[in-house]
Amino acid sequence: MLTEATLQSVHNETRQGEAYAPFELDNNLYHKKFYIESYGCQMNFSDSEIVASILQAEGFGATRNYLEADLVLLNTCSIREKAEQTIRKRLTEFKKVKDARPGMLVGVLGCMAERLKSKLLEEEKLVDMVVGPDAYRTLPGLIEEAETGQKAVNVMLSRDETYADISPVRLESNGVSAFISIMRGCNNMCSFCVVPFTRGRERSRDAYSIINEAKDLFARGFKEVTLLGQNVDSYYWLPPSPKGVCEEASNNNAVTFANLLEMVAQVNPQLRVRFSTSHPKDITEDVLHTMAKYENICKYIHLPVQSGSSRVLQLMNRTYTREWYMAKVDQIKNIMPDCGISSDIISGFCTEMEEDHKDTLDIMRYSGYDMSYMFFYSERPGTLAARRYTDDVPLDVKKRRLQEIVELQGKLSLESNKRDIGKTFKVLIEGESKRSSDDWMGRNTQNKVIVFAKTGGNLQKGDYVWVKVKDCTQATLLGEMIN
Ligand code: 5AD
Ligand code: SF4
Repeated sequence: MLTEATLQSVHNETRQGEAYAPFELDNNLYHKKFYIESYGCQMNFSDSEIVASILQAEGFGATRNYLEADLVLLNTCSIREKAEQTIRKRLTEFKKVKDARPGMLVGVLGCMAERLKSKLLEEEKLVDMVVGPDAYRTLPGLIEEAETGQKAVNVMLSRDETYADISPVRLESNGVSAFISIMRGCNNMCSFCVVPFTRGRERSRDAYSIINEAKDLFARGFKEVTLLGQNVDSYYWLPPSPKGVCEEASNNNAVTFANLLEMVAQVNPQLRVRFSTSHPKDITEDVLHTMAKYENICKYIHLPVQSGSSRVLQLMNRTYTREWYMAKVDQIKNIMPDCGISSDIISGFCTEMEEDHKDTLDIMRYSGYDMSYMFFYSERPGTLAARRYTDDVPLDVKKRRLQEIVELQGKLSLESNKRDIGKTFKVLIEGESKRSSDDWMGRNTQNKVIVFAKTGGNLQKGDYVWVKVKDCTQATLLGEMIN
């Protein structure tokens, strides 16, 4: 999923990890087979690992070939219209397979399940099961229902489900980095965003279960964890009793994101810690100081700006201004001069004028993003923006502005990479380079991909090495290992 060419894709409309064969599953033990495809954000990929764990307990083994699957699942994304279109097309393909193999069940999981509810079952008759992101524990019962020919739906959202006790089955894993989901849902109500409707209210996962998951991963050889949430900085968890089982968070003290980050960093200095996503309004100075304090907390923040215009930001309900965001960037750079910053940017939001767009280009230059995920605005039914504002920027204007944003980001990424030539970085090897088995591929703390020749040494993925950067492209640093 984390490819050299694309860097890490947070919200990607294309299918990733097309079929999973969990490396942890011994398929001889299972009497039925499931096939799962995930779309969209890292949270969906993380959820698919929870689903795999639930299915495993029900006697399902994984297959990479949907033609031999008893159960085909699509973990779906609704963030933009294009994502939904891609998934619908895929469902139509599966419908054809299903018609030829009547025993096969097809289920829709995730955000589209939540948004479209029983429409996919009833009106379009595309699928047998529709299961929302908080209903995965009920999958076994739903599968039974579907097996008897009934239409199975559960799209209930929950105020407290965090799947804290479920140990995810690591799918498509490189054995080096893993995601840990620390919270679910979002309370922010950015006016363009469908997530608060599809994933429900924000809730934080038991801190002890998070630490235990990190310890377990490290014991199994993983070297990097990414703490995942729609808005990690608002993580807030209260231990249930003053005499909790975990010393770190005793005395009934609330655990904030800064506390959690510190606790995970202390699992082992050899375990790198990353996190995503940060809302600029919520990331605290405490978090920044905690990052600075621990070498193993990666110096990289994904800090979506969305727009550089204060007027548009207000319409987006982002609750910060352009100046406020710029001050946050200054604060990050003051506390951690070497910190990498990336962003999400939307072009052509309702009422966006040329001068607003120029403000966006300007704030990109100011922030000097190492990379960005860039989109044109796609109105989503039910969101605040869909209800309140007119989607009035013509598509060709949205696309032209997006193109300018993409071009500028290309320049900024190249400049940022060029500044690294001559520097030496500690790199965690993730595996062989896609392009050549003579090269390793890894990342530095700033999340930049570095490719370097496998010269000397008896190295393997999961090892840390020092690499001096000799050259670069827009997306990749090219280096040489040093002793
Ligand atoms: N249109 C375009 N982009 C969107 N995003 C969220 N909702 C929309 C939308 N309706 C983008 C935001 C967010 C990222 C995950 O997807 O930039 O940060
Ligand atoms: Fe959507 Fe805003 Fe929540 Fe991110 S913070 S998931 S953009 S509502």
